[in-house]
Amino acid sequence: MRLTIHAYKPKARLHTFTCFAAILLTVSGCATGSRTGTEAANRGVVADKAMVVSAHPDASKIGLEILRKGGNAYDAAIATQFALAVCYPVAGNIGGGGFLVYRHHTGETGALDFREKAPAAASRDMYLDSLGNVVPNLSLLGHLAAGVPGSVDGMVKLHEKLGTLPFAELVQPAIDLARQGVVLTPREARMLNNAKEEMVAYNKHLPYLVRQQTWQAGDTLYHLDLARTLERIRDKGRAGFYTGETADLIVKEMQRGGGLISHQDLQEYNAVWRTPITGQYKDFKLTSMSPPSSGGIALLQLLTMVEPYDLKETGWQQPQTIQIMTEAERRVYADRATYLGDPDFYDVPVSGLLDRTYLKNRMDDVNLAQATPSSAVKAGELPIYESDQTTHFSIVDQFGNAASITTTINGGYGSMVVVEGAGFLLNNEMDDFSAKPGVPNMFGLVGGEANSVQPGKRMLSAMTPTIVEKDGKLFMVVGTPGGSTIITSVFQTILNVVEHGMTMQEAVAAPRFHHQWLPDEIQHEPDAISPEVRATLESKGYKLKQRGKYGAVEGILVLPNGKLEGGADPRGDDMAVGF
Ligand code: DON
Repeated sequence: MRLTIHAYKPKARLHTFTCFAAILLTVSGCATGSRTGTEAANRGVVADKAMVVSAHPDASKIGLEILRKGGNAYDAAIATQFALAVCYPVAGNIGGGGFLVYRHHTGETGALDFREKAPAAASRDMYLDSLGNVVPNLSLLGHLAAGVPGSVDGMVKLHEKLGTLPFAELVQPAIDLARQGVVLTPREARMLNNAKEEMVAYNKHLPYLVRQQTWQAGDTLYHLDLARTLERIRDKGRAGFYTGETADLIVKEMQRGGGLISHQDLQEYNAVWRTPITGQYKDFKLTSMSPPSSGGIALLQLLTMVEPYDLKETGWQQPQTIQIMTEAERRVYADRATYLGDPDFYDVPVSGLLDRTYLKNRMDDVNLAQATPSSAVKAGELPIYESDQTTHFSIVDQFGNAASITTTINGGYGSMVVVEGAGFLLNNEMDDFSAKPGVPNMFGLVGGEANSVQPGKRMLSAMTPTIVEKDGKLFMVVGTPGGSTIITSVFQTILNVVEHGMTMQEAVAAPRFHHQWLPDEIQHEPDAISPEVRATLESKGYKLKQRGKYGAVEGILVLPNGKLEGGADPRGDDMAVGF
């Protein structure tokens, strides 16, 4: 079956999208597939009052089960995070980090930073050779690529402040899943097979994620060491990971592979409550992640810069709309490269960057007859990274609380290093630092002093967990993986709904484009830009480059009747469930 998107301007109807069958699977006991109203054909899963949307059906179901037991969105978020560490090891994690943005039913908002930190023994030039050149892959693969993990402390801090069910009850479903085993989807089997060579190369032992024959869809993957690690976390909370046996195993693993994370790094790791970035776009109030993520600032900058233009009138994926968004994006990513880093180490000029006059002035030199060339800063070209190795989940509970979490080990399977005996992968988040000013990281992003490596510093992120309100009420919960494209994917998803009249499901499924200042090109998914639109843009000096599909946007939209629509990205195995 093919579905055609028709909720926005007919002239923009360039494409059809494959059916959303994956997210409409009915989960036993969950009203996951009810569709009502005239737009029913393109709506995602609609539920009365509670919804979980994540990258893996098992994780979505576990989150929903917690809500059914009377837990709130934060309890469900904790259970979902631990479940993803089991059933979605490519990105779900306890060996990585992430960010939460929440909105309580009272209207209070907040943000939790559980981003990884550089180990104390890290140093500015640690990824350079004696000639001052970046050593390929050193920040990407193997033990030196790993930052001190933040996810476990993040979940503990979240539970302390906002959780209601006992912590152990939130970890237990992940333990059960790890012991029962997880049946691999075709996509997961393929991803594991693709990672085999590097996992073999970067571990001293043969990790359990590797097997002699190739993995097949339908195979069951058991996570027995991980189950024991999760039991220690269940029983001892923070101490079950940052001290004792798990910490010993991590430090031993570091010693085996020449990594830097020490007992002291682990003991000193702390997740931090931060003030989120908030701002207004027309009638909508946005709450998103503050530094050390660039996501919230960049998203607000983008929305403020395009606000004076009537994008509804110029039309979805039409030349002028793409030009306006692209010109805003190139300016915002140039700011990001210069001004953004860990606020504990670098004075990020937040209010200057969000100043409406400044942002208006930034757009003054946009000429719709001709593309503005990106600045002449020299940046080498890296291959574009084309899959989803971070993960986002969005949750709304029956009490009206909302949680938006993006979490990552950075690249697919992170550093490829599995902590022997502990059964989990370590991140390669150190690559998000700027190894050398002007030299692009794996996402092609450049940076400078603000994001240089320093001991104990958090590397700059693009993760953009976001909550949108309208008229003082919850309107949307949204976020995605995708490295540098995260910000522009969230930007487009919001505009798809509020300007182009798409449903949540249409908005997450719609093909996307992206510009990040350097390289100076509009990168786009297949089918995102029609041949005619491409010709118009090229005639104005834009360079376009097609890439593979990217991102996995998970959104929840509050419908006018108060029901919730889940949008699960059809690019993966993602699933929305609700009741
Ligand atoms: O924090 C960041 O911006 C990156 N480490 C996110 C990585 C990511 O989204 C990978 N997925 N494609």
